[in-house]
Amino acid sequence: MKKVISLLTAAALAASIMVGCGAESAAPAPTQAAETKAAEAADAKDETEATEAAEAAKDTGDAAAASGVDVANAKVGISIYKFDDNFMTLYRTELMRYLTEDLGFQASNITIQDGKGDQAEQTNQINNFINEGRDILILNLVQASSAPQITDLCTDAGIPVIYINREPEADEEARWDGTVTYIGCDARQSGTFQGEEIVETPNGGDINGDGKVSYIMIQGDPENVDAQYRTEFSVKALTDAGIEVEELFLQRGDWDQAKGQQLTQDALTQFGDQIEVVFCNNDAMALGALQAIEAAGRVVGEDIYLVGVDALVEACQNVLDGKMTGTVFNDHIAQAHTVGDTAVKMLGGEKVDSVIMVDYSKVTAENAQSVLDALS
Ligand code: BGC
Repeated sequence: MKKVISLLTAAALAASIMVGCGAESAAPAPTQAAETKAAEAADAKDETEATEAAEAAKDTGDAAAASGVDVANAKVGISIYKFDDNFMTLYRTELMRYLTEDLGFQASNITIQDGKGDQAEQTNQINNFINEGRDILILNLVQASSAPQITDLCTDAGIPVIYINREPEADEEARWDGTVTYIGCDARQSGTFQGEEIVETPNGGDINGDGKVSYIMIQGDPENVDAQYRTEFSVKALTDAGIEVEELFLQRGDWDQAKGQQLTQDALTQFGDQIEVVFCNNDAMALGALQAIEAAGRVVGEDIYLVGVDALVEACQNVLDGKMTGTVFNDHIAQAHTVGDTAVKMLGGEKVDSVIMVDYSKVTAENAQSVLDALS
């Protein structure tokens, strides 16, 4: 497995360290040159991190320039599991921008389709891409469990594939030979970071002082391993820290804000003040949960804690304003750039690693402003 250091994470880290040192400096916009990010990262105290970030910045610059691949004429097929998803909307927007503006792909040669949450429909789209003779496919599967069948379709046709966001099973990844890859983040890390954000609160999440942390869990679509891992590892971070936990409620909200609101409202009605922590597998559901929390007259940071994942701008603002305890940056920018750079390599016939992971990072009140600056 290859690991990519997120450029934006490195920049935010450098900025937060600078803020910590009293300098009035904001993290750079993500569109700034890789060299700038590397230079800023070099300010970071942790030399290893800065060096890795500098290497990552160099890689990004190299991929487009040194490829020698005729990207302008490359025909790309992209299918997103559902256009109506906050996080995947940010991701696909940055992916299209990076492919066309930074790497030189022609927008007219890229077709991006909405899988509409329907695997049969998405499989049809993929079959059409194959029949049209696309040079590479970038696929955010509706059902990751369809990967074996889709991989066979594409490899039989000799078309390289990059899976994104919804990770196929390990035994599927194990049979890939360098022409198929998964690019994403290790969801265990995001769950751990969520749990640590609760552990790091003044009372370690035990607001009522009864010796245990009573929580509710609003889950994403369990078809995506992100939901399973975030659920498991957020709680594990508490138990690993020696904290006793009590699960009051666990329901799937399918990554959706309205469902997050409804479920949190239901849980608050049923369990009231017993709820000390609301874990949401993503920010969209956390934004919904916050609406329910405020409607119930509860106050985040005083009588309840709330964490999400993704670092949507609205969520980072809530963290800054104390309305959310924290979130975790799911770096759609580094993921999109890694996808673009890897696509160039694969189009050039290069074999790539089967799994390429981008790091998550914590967003708390201390660094939310620098993350917001970096995202704007
Ligand atoms: C994100 C969610 C998103 C899901 C889509 C997750 O990694 O955190 O916000 O809805 O991917 O598959």
